Amino acid sequence: MPDPELQTCGLVASWEAEPHALVVRHAEGLTRIDAVARDILRVRFSPSGALAPQRSWDPVAALPPAPLRISEAGEALRLDGGAIQAVLDRGTGALACFDSRGLPFAHDLGGPAWRELDVRETPFEHTPEPELPPGRARMGVFLDKLIPPDEGYFGFGQRTVRLDRRHSRLGNWNLDPCAPGVRQEHDNRYQTHPCFLALRPDIAWGLYLHSTWYSRFDVGAGRSQVLTLFTLGGELDYYLLAGPTPAAVVEQLTRLTGRPALPPLWAMGYHQSRWSYGSDAEVQALARAFRERGIPLDAIHLDIDYMDGFRVFTWDRERFPDPVHTVDQLHGQGVRAVAIIDPGVKKELGDGYTPADEGVAGGHFIAGPDGTLFSGWVWPGEALFPDFCRPETSRWWGDQHRGLLDAGVDGIWCDMNEPAIVDRPFPVRGVRNKSIPLATRLGGSAEPALEAETHNLYGHLMARAATEGQARLRPNRRPWTLTRSGHLGTHRWAVSWMGDNRSSWEDLGTSLPQLASMGLCGSPHVGVDIGGFFDNCFGELFARWIELGTFYPFMRCHTALGTHPQQPWSFGPGIEAIARAAIELRYRLLPYLYTLAHRAHRTGEPLLRPLLYDFPDQTDLHQIEDQVMIGPCLMIAPVCRPGVRRRLVELPAGSWHDFRTGAPVGPGPLVLPAPLGQIPILVRAGSILTLGNVRRTTAEPLTELTLLVYPGAAGVWTLIEDDGETPAHQEGAVAETDLRIEPTGDGVTFTQAARSGGFLPHPRTLLLRVHLEAPPAAVRLDGQETRGWHWDPQQRAIELSWADDGKAHEVMIQEGRPRDPPR
Ligand code: GLC
Repeated sequence: MPDPELQTCGLVASWEAEPHALVVRHAEGLTRIDAVARDILRVRFSPSGALAPQRSWDPVAALPPAPLRISEAGEALRLDGGAIQAVLDRGTGALACFDSRGLPFAHDLGGPAWRELDVRETPFEHTPEPELPPGRARMGVFLDKLIPPDEGYFGFGQRTVRLDRRHSRLGNWNLDPCAPGVRQEHDNRYQTHPCFLALRPDIAWGLYLHSTWYSRFDVGAGRSQVLTLFTLGGELDYYLLAGPTPAAVVEQLTRLTGRPALPPLWAMGYHQSRWSYGSDAEVQALARAFRERGIPLDAIHLDIDYMDGFRVFTWDRERFPDPVHTVDQLHGQGVRAVAIIDPGVKKELGDGYTPADEGVAGGHFIAGPDGTLFSGWVWPGEALFPDFCRPETSRWWGDQHRGLLDAGVDGIWCDMNEPAIVDRPFPVRGVRNKSIPLATRLGGSAEPALEAETHNLYGHLMARAATEGQARLRPNRRPWTLTRSGHLGTHRWAVSWMGDNRSSWEDLGTSLPQLASMGLCGSPHVGVDIGGFFDNCFGELFARWIELGTFYPFMRCHTALGTHPQQPWSFGPGIEAIARAAIELRYRLLPYLYTLAHRAHRTGEPLLRPLLYDFPDQTDLHQIEDQVMIGPCLMIAPVCRPGVRRRLVELPAGSWHDFRTGAPVGPGPLVLPAPLGQIPILVRAGSILTLGNVRRTTAEPLTELTLLVYPGAAGVWTLIEDDGETPAHQEGAVAETDLRIEPTGDGVTFTQAARSGGFLPHPRTLLLRVHLEAPPAAVRLDGQETRGWHWDPQQRAIELSWADDGKAHEVMIQEGRPRDPPR
């Protein structure tokens, strides 16, 4: 139904070409289109004709613009940015885009439209002060684009349940969906990523709705062939990404929003957490238990009970009498400490609690529209909230971490930073969620803004302050921050987990599309609470969850206060053995996963991604969300239902091997055994998987590097390594080793190029394992025939090892004749 109140821009009255932009004046309003890059256009429309100034907290980094050629073509203006073309209709202001091959995408169904909104049309209706501040905050802008029948819509950040979001409405407003009285509308959660990847058989393209205000996508929910972009804030501002592949779209998006930070190596190991490990003795016993049971562990998380009465930046000295000693002891076992910090600072003034007194004196806390300090209740009772839009407040906040870092704490866990606030102490009846009023002024006098504009950035800016604080206070260490809330671009500062899930089969299954969607939004370092947060987990679910958790980019087990313990041994010896094997496999895979982290840091490439990312041409795979790729080489098919011991697996084109046996599998689809502890893991032919020795912690050196080769296709891989700890990788202290596998007429040749770059790995042995049909007839190492190889009849693989001297080597394998029929 057309909305009679909507105003539209009308005819183009005049236009002007700039070297990198087109500026169009309509009968009402102004459009500006910038060529941000050859393959990225930024489109802005303002009904008032005035465009909003650039914000210092804008997630988009300034890029050198690209030339934009503009010409008249009848009733249209034609724009040519190089890899993206567009046509603007002078009658309606509608825009149509084409990729470099002329394929159409993102066609407007009319020009932009706008009207003032009533609060009842927003999710704010139920907030205690249901008023939209006057002015831009009330002005909603709409734009309709055509949905072609065969186009799917992916990404959109942290959502639940589905991968393809066609036929849904998706709101962008950060909230804690578990807070009492919260009305979650249109699947909005802790984080906002107002962007998507559209994919149809020949083309992938992307769109980033560049708004931090409340915004919404209607992806064919109201009208099945119409995609509506909507935002408050009185300006429509979006980036069009020309693709043409999913990988290109993610690269384009992260070129704009920044590449994901490279985590320290320890952070990619196994993390154990609980709300809460409540004393030094408990924490030490936990670390010891891991060591005694021989289960690898790299980090223990300290939840809110390490604090004195939940006052942030304090320690409970009864339970943690000597924090330096606590952390030292952990470090002695190769375990890192991560401490939680919430944004709410206990409102305890004049009583010696420095963060509160200093915060008030420095004007760091948010004041409501009437100028008095805004407060609300969180764990410590009544609390004040820093205004992270003020740069001096972010810096002050970052500096508050000094005490934790001096105690040796290795990482900061930013929680409750939507922010989650309630209106009275938690145990009091009738407790309800409380929001910062939308008319609240933030940013100080230097850059004033409304809560209505910056709300979605609260967690983002808090995580950024924590990361920058660590970088300032401890410049020789790579910072590590985990955050619950965030926005597009938070990946530059922090790793995210998906908040409070449940110990349920549904939540286990949901984790796959959820994390895959985050990856498509340029946020590759993500995980969910393994075992589930609320409710009691149980053996079978825990086993299935941890065997999938091996492959979460961020692998942490966490659970709520009062639930059944969720240590790997909490469900009996059988499940413990499964958990140990899952965590050991994680450690074996680390050289591969860490290389993937480097690739993510360079191009945004997600570690965990849906099949459509690697196989966009296979449209039958686009909807699959219960199988994912881990990098380009591995595919996993987890089991997310009770009692199931087999899995139907779809095989993308090409040849595939079973990771455990090395045996070729397929063609697909096929049913594979999936007993507890053994989900199907498939490897693409042509892969060279780099596996490490099992370590109890990444603090132990990598002494053996296995190069697992799956022939059947040619393949290349570059192993990327660094010290795993310092920012020296930014100055070139990175080692790269190019590996190559090539089928020859009668066998296969493996080559290892000389290592390049400024990092020297720990001395180690290389173990080459090549899966073959039959024992080789001859093996030549660097041109010399060698007998120093071993044939593993079970795995049907030849093994050959040498000391890694960083030099180039070549192994030529001449295949023998199968002695028994091939499997
Ligand atoms: C929030 C977090 C959860 C944490 C709890 C106590 O619910 O999401 O991870 O354990 O607060 O700090």
